Amino acid sequence: MALGPAVRTRLGRYEIPAADAYRSLFINLDDCAEVMASVFPAARILEIGCGDGSFAQRLLKRYPKADYVGIDVSAQPGRLFRGDPARVQFASVDSASFRATEPGTFDLVVVVDVIHHVPHELREALFRDVRALTTPGGHYAIKEWEPRPGPAHLACWAADRFITGDRISHVPSAAMKSRLADLLGDELVLEARIPPHRHNYLLGYAREGIPAQRTGD
Ligand SMILES: C[S@@+](CC[C@H](N)C(=O)[O-])C[C@H]1O[C@@H](n2cnc3c(N)ncnc32)[C@H](O)[C@@H]1O
Repeated sequence: MALGPAVRTRLGRYEIPAADAYRSLFINLDDCAEVMASVFPAARILEIGCGDGSFAQRLLKRYPKADYVGIDVSAQPGRLFRGDPARVQFASVDSASFRATEPGTFDLVVVVDVIHHVPHELREALFRDVRALTTPGGHYAIKEWEPRPGPAHLACWAADRFITGDRISHVPSAAMKSRLADLLGDELVLEARIPPHRHNYLLGYAREGIPAQRTGD
């Protein structure tokens, strides 16, 4: 059962403030964008699982010169984006199909609050796509939610489960780090917690390799 779409269509012009208010109960997306921008330089950004474009808007404020592509498996990604349309592209496509058309061209790839929505058997392929779409010498960042018992976790789990209808499953940060190290092998260069809950963890990796501009290609 998914309550989200039914409620959203009835909100009309209140949809954006309502979506912002709901999200801010669990994560400060501005802080998340700020941390990324303070650590990772980027001119071309990809967000996998961009949703309605809420994070895109915040990210572009912190990266005033960057271009952005947001992809999602949902029907209308970027539907609520209210920034400069000239700097963004949204596409309803999965990461594997997208990778087939744009291999390794982004210097920052971000995946925010997506992994816990992805079925376990599809996660490995998604992680590999994240890396493949990051240019050598570029960075990728994964933001997830620590499943630490308590009221915040219960509220987050229930909201996600019943609003999206997905069979969500959160990954502890230690397990995520170990999985990414085994699977992708890149250096972990950023580990942060994002307010308002310490459950929000952000991991950032430097993709091994020499940046394209330094090879003289
Ligand atoms: C909680 S929303 C996060 C949206 C956005 N990243 C943000 O932080 O505002 C999770 C999104 O992940 C998307 N998603 C789920 N599985 C996906 C997959 N395999 N590939 C891409 N996106 C996926 C969903 O459609 C949904 O839009």
